[in-house]
Amino acid sequence: MARRKKIYEGKAKILYEGPEPGTLVQYFKDDATAFNAEKHAVIEGKGVLNNRLSEFFMTGLAQVGIPTHFLRRLNMREQLVRQVEIIPLEIIVRNFAAGSMAKRLGMEEGAALPQPIIEFSLKDDKLGDPLVPEEYIIAFQWASQQDLDDIVRLALRVNDFMSGAMYGVGIKLVDFKIEVGRIWDGDFQRLVVADEISPDSCRLWDLQSGEKLDKDVFRRDLGNLTDAYAEVARRLGVMPTNATHITKPTLIN
Ligand SMILES: Nc1ncnc2c1ncn2[C@@H]1O[C@H](COP(=O)(O)OP(=O)(O)OP(=O)(O)O)[C@@H](O)[C@H]1O
Ligand SMILES: [Mg+2]
Repeated sequence: MARRKKIYEGKAKILYEGPEPGTLVQYFKDDATAFNAEKHAVIEGKGVLNNRLSEFFMTGLAQVGIPTHFLRRLNMREQLVRQVEIIPLEIIVRNFAAGSMAKRLGMEEGAALPQPIIEFSLKDDKLGDPLVPEEYIIAFQWASQQDLDDIVRLALRVNDFMSGAMYGVGIKLVDFKIEVGRIWDGDFQRLVVADEISPDSCRLWDLQSGEKLDKDVFRRDLGNLTDAYAEVARRLGVMPTNATHITKPTLIN
């Protein structure tokens, strides 16, 4: 098979040139990183789970009318997406205090916020993705005021969908991060949800026990990461655990 052209290799994914112009293949690796890549491990099976989970969430978003880059899943580790011009921001939506916000404000992790709070950090690994105010974004032209208004609306719609989807399977959506990209249609641009939505990019807590089912399991050494992600997938019916390997011909009626 002809070797594909690698466009970019990040910490968790590889992007290859897609089969048609304007498309990319996103390959999900097993690598997990935290604290700006100071902590790194290879966690067998993580990429397969994130590929499936991101497909599930992106497909669900499309079904409720929220545009995404997702086209279709190709195999266990790869999905076909539309190539976008990534806006160089991480868009973080918070429903409950946790992580850097809890630390910054001296809040208890899990404290309910009065309303969903959106914050932006600049995608720049060298600087450790610093939090940036809207004024910086406009002044340095990382996005326009119109883009920001659209991004906030998009992020809140994603939050509503994701909160509901997770609540339905007994999981609290504490916070999450998305990336947004531009797709050009002649002179017009559309903003779509890009990158991935998975337990790598969300904080997910079991509603009853508070057990963490996201990348904090890795960040804080709380147990087996793939077990946590597989639990999310199992609850969503994405990867049923009873899908055992078929070893002999089986009659399916
Ligand atoms: N549809 C898309 N078109 C173009 N680029 C995309 C698209 N979806 C995601 N990307 C970019 O592909 C990369 C995915 O790789 P990965 O998540 O491993 O990167 P990363 O190590 O987190 O680095 P980065 O800081 O660039 O996000 C990211 O840079 C992301 O912004
Ligand atoms: Mg990334």
